[in-house]
Amino acid sequence: MSANKESWGSRVGLILAMAGNAVGLGNFLRFPVQAVQNGGGAFIIPYLVCFLVMGIPLLWIEWSMGRFGGRYGNHSTPYIVDTMGKHRLWKYIGVFGIWTNIAVASYYCYIESWTLSYVFHSIMGTFNGLDQNGVATFFDTYVSIGESTMGIPYEAVFFYILCLLLNTWILSKGLSGGVERVAKVGMPLLILFGMFLAYKGFTIKAGEAGAAFDSAVGLNFLWTPDYSQLWSPTVWLAAAGQIFFTLSVGMGTIHCYASYVRSKDDIALNAMSAGWMNEFVEVVLGASILIPISIGYLGIDRVTELVQQGGLGLAFKTLPYLFAQWGEVLGAIAGVMWFGLLFFAGITSSLAMGTPWMGFLQDEFQWKRKSAAWSFGLIVLVLGMPTVLFFHYGVFDEYDYWAGTVSLVVFALAETILFAWVFGMGRGWREITAGADIKVPGIYKFIIKFVTPLLLLWVFIGSLVTPKGGDWAKAFAGDWVLDDSSIINKIKNTSLKRQLAEATDPAMIEHLQETLFFVNASRILLVAVFLGIAGLVYIAYKKRVREGRI
Ligand code: TRP
Ligand code: TRP
Repeated sequence: MSANKESWGSRVGLILAMAGNAVGLGNFLRFPVQAVQNGGGAFIIPYLVCFLVMGIPLLWIEWSMGRFGGRYGNHSTPYIVDTMGKHRLWKYIGVFGIWTNIAVASYYCYIESWTLSYVFHSIMGTFNGLDQNGVATFFDTYVSIGESTMGIPYEAVFFYILCLLLNTWILSKGLSGGVERVAKVGMPLLILFGMFLAYKGFTIKAGEAGAAFDSAVGLNFLWTPDYSQLWSPTVWLAAAGQIFFTLSVGMGTIHCYASYVRSKDDIALNAMSAGWMNEFVEVVLGASILIPISIGYLGIDRVTELVQQGGLGLAFKTLPYLFAQWGEVLGAIAGVMWFGLLFFAGITSSLAMGTPWMGFLQDEFQWKRKSAAWSFGLIVLVLGMPTVLFFHYGVFDEYDYWAGTVSLVVFALAETILFAWVFGMGRGWREITAGADIKVPGIYKFIIKFVTPLLLLWVFIGSLVTPKGGDWAKAFAGDWVLDDSSIINKIKNTSLKRQLAEATDPAMIEHLQETLFFVNASRILLVAVFLGIAGLVYIAYKKRVREGRI
């Protein structure tokens, strides 16, 4: 019946692959940026609370949904949710679990390819002798397609394709033969590199190697709780968003990985091992590198300013310059470790993104693993090329916003309702605890049923109608003006249109008009991909009916 005979090789391999799925660029690039943008110490408490009441429940929900689906030969969310909910529309909600992965992979692999290229340039010593401006210009040149950094034109395209080929090739080797092997090598190396860099981050001293401040300045900024911001919904929304992104929940990848777990095997402890490993890497390693080092050299104000200009700049424009201050050899080693670590973090996540689509084709259309892998590579190439070629027009950010942020909350909310209310908490609890190697605290029955869905609903509504400047008090007093960052104003392109109305410089006007075009085109493309996958789910449904499998 099913052409899908994949399975995991070992428990350690499964946990490392799951941890590799969770540990990604988000841990080292997104987390510090979110923390800085949300006031450092103000961010940590909401972040940890969100981990406990939203992250952990969702991990258990998704692991058990996956294992449950796998028992019936389903390895991607459309038919996993179909097995759990009777209504025939559920499988179209499940489309999110394939679509998100494809759309995210399309821009995620682009950042991943930068890290590959920066490893190369660190080894070649490209950044030696460049001043701060020079390193920043290198990045800007790199992402301006067609220009060349080292005499290689279209370098960004080259590394992007190389990175995709690598992903596709590993995926074509399967779970135990490809994904698991990469995780077993990549994760330990990542932790090793991370420890070394965190050690360097902890020992930054004012006056040594050109640093201006002790590492304590950056660490205190991050870890001194700022209770005044504790009740700001904006900070809470950011914290919740980061928890989603970093744990890879609300995406369909965990379901897919877990669907290859044998039906009697533990998931409760496995989910915790992978989840807590991710938190260790994020909160201990992720927080001890970028922030303390860059604040040590540039100070809090300058770093905050740089972060506001774009989160990725700090890692790619600033850090290579700071490493160079440690001398030629140590600078090169640090560069290789930093970008190497990012590369391993990235590839173990992007591989995970390929699996739901592959599982779907194998389950429903009896595709062979190899062809399924190559079809993923091809789709990501086509869908990702706009993020590469039109990076400056915000295509990348558009993908990240809809697929990497909004859709996670939507899908997580839907699956929590499905799990706790449609499938039923009684059966759900039995799924979570079946074969469990730990005792799952009973309080989580209550949390999963009430707290998690309510919180998710609040996060969703809060993002939908965020009031101007995050001033909720004013909004509730009756003066509800939508912020440009609210989902509704994003759809309406309020911010771009205002900028356009205010612009006077013809070049600026043209750039804004083009941006508007690319933003709308990206959305149409993303919607088209969603509908395309939904169409395939429908065809698969007809096929199942014809074959008497439903
Ligand atoms: N959790 C990963 C990170 O922190 C990102 C990620 C992994 C992801 N799998 C995903 C994002 C699937 C979207 C879809 O970087
Ligand atoms: N959101 C980050 C910022 O504020 C950048 C970012 C978007 C990112 N998506 C990411 C970083 C994925 C790492 C991984 O600029």
